[in-house]
Amino acid sequence: MKQAIATLVLGARPQIIKSAPFIHLAGKDKEINLEIVHTGQHYDYEMTKIFFEELHIPDPIANLNVGSGTHAQQTAKIMLRLERILQEQKPDLVIVPGDTNSTLAGALTAAKLHIPVAHIEAGARSYDIKMPEEINRRLTDHCSKLLFTPTENCTKNLTKEGINQNKIHQTGDTMYDVLLQQLPKAEKTTILKQLNLKPKTYALLTTHRPENVDNPKNLKNITEATTKLKPLTIVFPAHPRTQKQLRETKLYSKIQKQKHIKLIKPTGYHETLKLIKNATLILTDSGGMQKEAFWLKTPCITLRKNTEWTETTQLKANYLTGTNPQKIVKTANKIIKNKKQIEKKLKQLPNPFGDGNASKKILEAIKSYQIESN
Ligand code: UD1
Repeated sequence: MKQAIATLVLGARPQIIKSAPFIHLAGKDKEINLEIVHTGQHYDYEMTKIFFEELHIPDPIANLNVGSGTHAQQTAKIMLRLERILQEQKPDLVIVPGDTNSTLAGALTAAKLHIPVAHIEAGARSYDIKMPEEINRRLTDHCSKLLFTPTENCTKNLTKEGINQNKIHQTGDTMYDVLLQQLPKAEKTTILKQLNLKPKTYALLTTHRPENVDNPKNLKNITEATTKLKPLTIVFPAHPRTQKQLRETKLYSKIQKQKHIKLIKPTGYHETLKLIKNATLILTDSGGMQKEAFWLKTPCITLRKNTEWTETTQLKANYLTGTNPQKIVKTANKIIKNKKQIEKKLKQLPNPFGDGNASKKILEAIKSYQIESN
């Protein structure tokens, strides 16, 4: 039987992490020839290469080197450069994970060349159309032939939008797969020691969403809230976009003067898991970290007004505060006060994100699809 060529298009930090278990499985499978194309959306060592090294991901067949730019520039550059590669490689399938500009650009390019698209992490919805990721998710889902959903809620979202049931495969979340696989290595990292931290004495803060960091008022609000959480040390690995905005708004030096805040470079995957697991609480606007906090049983405060991971808020493991400093501080203090009780409750919650075998189920579904369409 002819080996099917599948091209996996990725380019931003979370896409590399969540694709790792699938890449390893597909790499061992004789029926699939998986080729990775890196769009170059992320390019700093801490944003991309580190994850290839930590997760032993083979080198991409191409890097499109699109770099930073406006949404249109980034998306259009990926499309132009990817089209050439897809025309040469003629893959049987293009796989796109997540919800970034690389996801949408990959899906659109393939769909227009009539190459079937498979979307990993389909059906997530925040219903906030101003979020670039929400636009990316919706459009990608609607031009995909195979939609792999992480939860029942995501499946329901797609059904509501009229997507044919035959296309939807509820597999569970590949981010949960990778977390389970990598946790032993994460435990071994020395990041707590390096940062002079004791378990459960600090909060982990990350923020990178444009609505928070590109808006000086929101960025100021978030930093103001953290200065009021003094009983806790705040560990703040800042995304390059955030670092840039902190410098431009002169908040960088203000934060550096706060002795209880440790402003550091973005951490690797293993270090991040260790930091999440041992934190008293998480403050974040990241989609992925809300779920990682949930799986590692650490309470999470989400610095947004909405979330696509409503499973975590419904189970009361994740609290939405937006960027209102009073609300952030009040919620954090409540968590600190009821620490033991919350910890116990988190340990008993069901996991709506599957059983850690999502990548295996995705590979099986892709193979059956290939057989049917050949
Ligand atoms: C992107 C994704 C987001 C994902 C996030 C993870 C979109 C629309 N957003 O957001 O869903 O959660 O990645 O990090 O695709 N920069 C660097 N070096 C890098 C990468 C970025 O300096 O390696 C800076 C640049 O100033 C750039 C800015 O970060 O302009 C934004 O990068 P971009 O890729 O547009 O989006 P993210 O904010 O990273």
